Amino acid sequence: MTQGLYTVLSNEKIADSIYLMVLEGDTSAFSKPGQFLNIKLDGLFLRRPISVCDYDDDTITIIYKVVGEGTEMMAEMECGEQLDILTGLGNGFDTSLSGDSPLLIGGGVGVPPMYGLCKALVEEGKKPTVILGFNKESEIFYKEEFERLGATVYITTVDGSVGTKGFVTDVMKNLDYSFFYTCGPMPMFRAIEKTAKTSGQYSFEERMGCGFGACMGCSCKTLTGGYKRICKDGPVMMREEILWTQE
Ligand SMILES: Cc1cc2nc3c(=O)[nH]c(=O)nc-3n(C[C@H](O)[C@H](O)[C@H](O)COP(=O)(O)OP(=O)(O)OC[C@H]3O[C@@H](n4cnc5c(N)ncnc54)[C@H](O)[C@@H]3O)c2cc1C
Ligand code: FES
Repeated sequence: MTQGLYTVLSNEKIADSIYLMVLEGDTSAFSKPGQFLNIKLDGLFLRRPISVCDYDDDTITIIYKVVGEGTEMMAEMECGEQLDILTGLGNGFDTSLSGDSPLLIGGGVGVPPMYGLCKALVEEGKKPTVILGFNKESEIFYKEEFERLGATVYITTVDGSVGTKGFVTDVMKNLDYSFFYTCGPMPMFRAIEKTAKTSGQYSFEERMGCGFGACMGCSCKTLTGGYKRICKDGPVMMREEILWTQE
């Protein structure tokens, strides 16, 4: 983990309430897709965790949805402004588990970490298939970016305005794949858990406290390893270790 000041290079609205921000600064603490950063915002006690969508030697791309005070402040930031950020947080996805034809499933703001993962898998010579789930057309983002990586992309919308009408699992149930990776809301996870035919990894974007393992605020019981902290031992967990507590 490192802490540093990052400069906003761009901050654009790309879909309903969804913004893409490019930050310039030290990216050396990141080593895997699926890791996250934690942003300090003036006047707010807790930092706000956001997944890394993509990064290179000196820039980080994040995509965030405006849902409250912190993300509203982010949406108003202009080029040249600086943010205090903790980087290199979380364990990230394990691409060595993917097999040749992994399935990546992103729901809403669970889509961004799937992009970095897709890029890494393609670079390793794998052939990913991607399902992106949204509520409606105006919320869709990043379809073309995944296609440009060479992935086969399916879109689902709850209202049927684009792609398959329904949920990601309406596409997932008809596909063959070697392993799955997913990030998105809990109801989507529960549906995936009932549909999945292989092992997989889930990335949790639940609320958290410190974000780096100190407060135990994100601790959860696992099937295999006692308690784990979502922020430090996760946010990515193996399908086989997750204890699904509520229906
Ligand atoms: C590891 C991790 C990665 C994340 N990655 C992304 C990302 O890539 N893009 C993105 O848009 N968001 C992501 N989130 C969620 C993001 O952290 C929250 O949306 C953000 O902190 C909300 O801050 P706020 O001040 O705007 O909202 P608040 O004022 O704190 O809350 C506003 C409303 O949003 C709800 N809310 C807050 N946090 C969450 C959450 N984590 N999940 C569901 N509802 C929440 C609150 O209950 C409240 O109703 C991630 C969360 C985690 C833990
Ligand atoms: S949020 Fe503090 S230990 Fe995870």
